[in-house]
Amino acid sequence: MSMKFVPAGTLRISNEGEEVTVRGWAATCRDHGGLIFIDLRDRTGIVQIVSDPSRSGKEVHETAGKMHSEYTLRVHGTVRKRSSETVNSKMPTGDIEILADEIEILSVSKPVPFEISDESSASEEIRLKYRYLDIRRPSMLANLRLRHEIYRATRSTLDRLGFIEVETPMLCRSTPEGARDYLVPSRVQPGKFFALPQSPQLYKQILMISGLERYYQIVKCFRDEDLRADRQPEFTQIDIEMSFIDEDDIFEMCEELLSAIFKTANIELPRPFQRMKYEEAMRRFGSDKPDLRFGLELVDITDLASESNFQVFKNIAGKGGLVSGIRIPGGGDLSRKDIDDLTLYASRFGAKGLAYFHARNGSLESNIAKYFDASLLSKIRERFKAEDGDLVVLVADKVNTARNALGELRKKIAAQRNMIEPGYRFLWVTDFPLFEYDSEEKRWVAIHHPFTSPKPEYWQTFDKDPGSVVARAYDCVLNGTEIGGGSIRIHRMDIQERVFKLLGIGKDEAQEKFGFLLDALEFGAPPHGGIAFGLDRLAMILTGSKSIRDVIAFPKTQNATCPLTSAPGLVSPLQMKELNLISTAKELNEKKD
Ligand code: AMO
Repeated sequence: MSMKFVPAGTLRISNEGEEVTVRGWAATCRDHGGLIFIDLRDRTGIVQIVSDPSRSGKEVHETAGKMHSEYTLRVHGTVRKRSSETVNSKMPTGDIEILADEIEILSVSKPVPFEISDESSASEEIRLKYRYLDIRRPSMLANLRLRHEIYRATRSTLDRLGFIEVETPMLCRSTPEGARDYLVPSRVQPGKFFALPQSPQLYKQILMISGLERYYQIVKCFRDEDLRADRQPEFTQIDIEMSFIDEDDIFEMCEELLSAIFKTANIELPRPFQRMKYEEAMRRFGSDKPDLRFGLELVDITDLASESNFQVFKNIAGKGGLVSGIRIPGGGDLSRKDIDDLTLYASRFGAKGLAYFHARNGSLESNIAKYFDASLLSKIRERFKAEDGDLVVLVADKVNTARNALGELRKKIAAQRNMIEPGYRFLWVTDFPLFEYDSEEKRWVAIHHPFTSPKPEYWQTFDKDPGSVVARAYDCVLNGTEIGGGSIRIHRMDIQERVFKLLGIGKDEAQEKFGFLLDALEFGAPPHGGIAFGLDRLAMILTGSKSIRDVIAFPKTQNATCPLTSAPGLVSPLQMKELNLISTAKELNEKKD
């Protein structure tokens, strides 16, 4: 039987009088003494079905009477105008209804554990367990649709720009992106493991050496790390690599791509995006991913603080620390308790306290003002450009601690005081440091990853003073979220070897883990670089979702489990044995003994 179905959500007054067939789910059923109304929902929206015993017939009306929420049904009938008192201006189909002359129940449903609507207040645990019901909610479906548009825009734009999509293996060697690996035991190579890719980093570099020049892939990546609202153990990257290019080429390509992606949501992006060096971002915003939708910039008063008699400030300033603060416009209205709450908040990020000044009577007043003479107070007031009624909050600490705490406070204050302007503020953060010292592990580590090139002026000398080396690395930041990161890579074997050495990766280990890359770098490696965007994070921002899980069909919980399938699960001893997991564990124990 062939039957032409009409998408329910598309019917309008212009369809009045047409005979149509629709199918979908019964969203709601109402019996109004004689007339039965069924809201039929399909993926395009909802249309009202009416069964009128005098017009639809007895049999149809009986079937309508048996209908319950979430049954699937097929309806044939005639589109008619609703009476003026039943018009629903909130629904796109609210001017019309379908008078049924056939209703068929296709399947029945148990009572659902939560209401299928965007207003549903079900817990996330329940939503994820019954994800198939959750995705019936219009907002979830809209999120998946937008995600699909992102794939489409990405593929068509990168195709137009001459990129080739290549799939790289899921069963690979560990890639050093800094998180823990998900491992897969090899059955045929007892005791050996594959790692699921944290990113296709090494493969894409190899593809540049292979001469592809422009590669991309929409690819799953796996990282066994602590989860947050914008992190998942498996997530999707738009992964890109190009040869014979520099940073400007990458930025231009990315801006074109992001513009195309945002166009799918009818958003025009102003180009070029703003750029800022890492050092400036840290100094002005206390963050390497500053949210530029609001001001509240950090103001350094270390020099002035050192002239005061306030010992805490003097000591910190004397030891190379930082005294810095934020002016909260109109913040004079904050109560003692509000300030205590901010202090507590700052302490979560390592600040040992929060000093403050009220801008009042043309000067600054507070319990610490007595340690500052009048001219010093007026200089501080001037530096903050404070007006009467403002509040200045100050943190004094080691440079990084003070900046980080103020960076976090800045976001908190902006949110609390509704200071966040709407819109999309993109930013390229550039000139990151290449290495940072890990005092726990007592060694240098790569901030981005070990394949990132130092700026050429450091090529000769980077091993001498690693902390001062600037990397050719960049992040793409949107409204305070890092949505992408990349770098120009090392394309010379000798430099790559020296970087490994500096990171404490010995010659044998480097050969064992990355020998293939070092070898390949000796066969005419083009200068190359690239970037990867977090597709889930992009979708999260574009859909205005609070959690990354709302833009992923089957996400994991905060505990990295899947409530729908109960993964991860136990496996049988036989499977373990086949994979040599049992005997391997036994052997290891024996070795220990
Ligand atoms: P990076 O580690 O910065 O770079 O990752 C790139 C982008 O991927 C997103 N992302 C995540 N999204 C969700 N959940 C996670 N657990 C998660 N981790 C990262 C972020 C991030 O900006 N190989 C390099 C890229 C390169 O150098 O070209 C890499 O993976 O949005």
